[in-house]
Amino acid sequence: MKPTRVLGFESSCDETGVALVEVAGDAPPRLLAQALHSQIAMHQAYGGVVPELASRDHVRRVLPLAREVLSQAGLTLRDVDLVAYTQGPGLAGALLVGAGVAVSLAAALDLPALPIHHLEGHLLSPFLSADPPEFPFVALLVSGGHTQLMRVDDVGAYEILGETIDDAAGEAFDKSAKLLGLPYPGGPHLARLAEFGNPEAFDLPRPLLHSGKPDFSFAGLKTAVLTQVKKIGDSPCEQTRADLAAATQAAIVDVLVKKSLLALKETGLKRLVVAGGVGANARLREALNAACAKRGVRVHYPELALCTDNGAMIAMAAALRVQRGLAGEGALRRDGGFEV
Ligand code: KG4
Ligand code: ZN
Repeated sequence: MKPTRVLGFESSCDETGVALVEVAGDAPPRLLAQALHSQIAMHQAYGGVVPELASRDHVRRVLPLAREVLSQAGLTLRDVDLVAYTQGPGLAGALLVGAGVAVSLAAALDLPALPIHHLEGHLLSPFLSADPPEFPFVALLVSGGHTQLMRVDDVGAYEILGETIDDAAGEAFDKSAKLLGLPYPGGPHLARLAEFGNPEAFDLPRPLLHSGKPDFSFAGLKTAVLTQVKKIGDSPCEQTRADLAAATQAAIVDVLVKKSLLALKETGLKRLVVAGGVGANARLREALNAACAKRGVRVHYPELALCTDNGAMIAMAAALRVQRGLAGEGALRRDGGFEV
């Protein structure tokens, strides 16, 4: 059977990602090549993503990255059968760069263009690992913009069990990190600082921990961190900052673990998939692994490098959709679609 080769583009925020995935019959799709350019260094001076700069940088990077991916795979544009791109959610200008390039390439090559939901990309990113999950499973999606628990029966068959009513888990990491004077994006910096801190040195709230529902709230935690930052003053010692970082991380991890266990209990499922940038957090992985091992639940993660935004997850989501014939109907229109 002739394989379908999917060229995927991600440009929703501050990473330009391009990847090529091949799918044939029922076999697991294979990642042939990928390339990524992170804009983190560019935005760091501003303490966060500057949308206008992000869009312009995507324009600069996207075609060279596509060329790099094809050359890594020893292929040319003529070998591509379908072009996929992140449809949203994300920064409108940044999304339009990936969508514009993907739809134009598809038009020029007379190929279909397939828009992919960014969160579906994250959700299906563990299928790029050597040990992909089987359906059905519970998914904990923890990114900079979203925190959701989902029941996943198959590609495209998703039921939201609970989500955040205010900030996302990544946002809680990032905003707390900023309060601690750490650079953008704060999550990984806070995690590093927390390594030599004592999580019990500060008593921080775990909002909605006992709500009995798989929902989340992180805004109150940020406020509590702000109160502590004011208390410790302008020049706290390094150990105090590390302690506050560790306490913040512990509060977020406790809530994520407890709610994941609740969703597993509610659904009776024995598999958990963790995806999105916060899924890279080592303490979260440790705590989930320990709690799930006790309950006979298997936990799947994307490879560390594929937790944050990348093109491979978009190409993979498209390949899994193609494999199930889900790419028909509208989504596979030859004129693509510009729903951002
Ligand atoms: O999934 P992602 O790359 O982008 C969105 O779709 O939002 O997630 C980025 C988020 C940021 O909030 C970042 O601080 C967080 O993931 N993050 C981490 C870690 N690595 C990335 N948070 C905690 N610990 C980490 N190691
Ligand atoms: Zn993302």
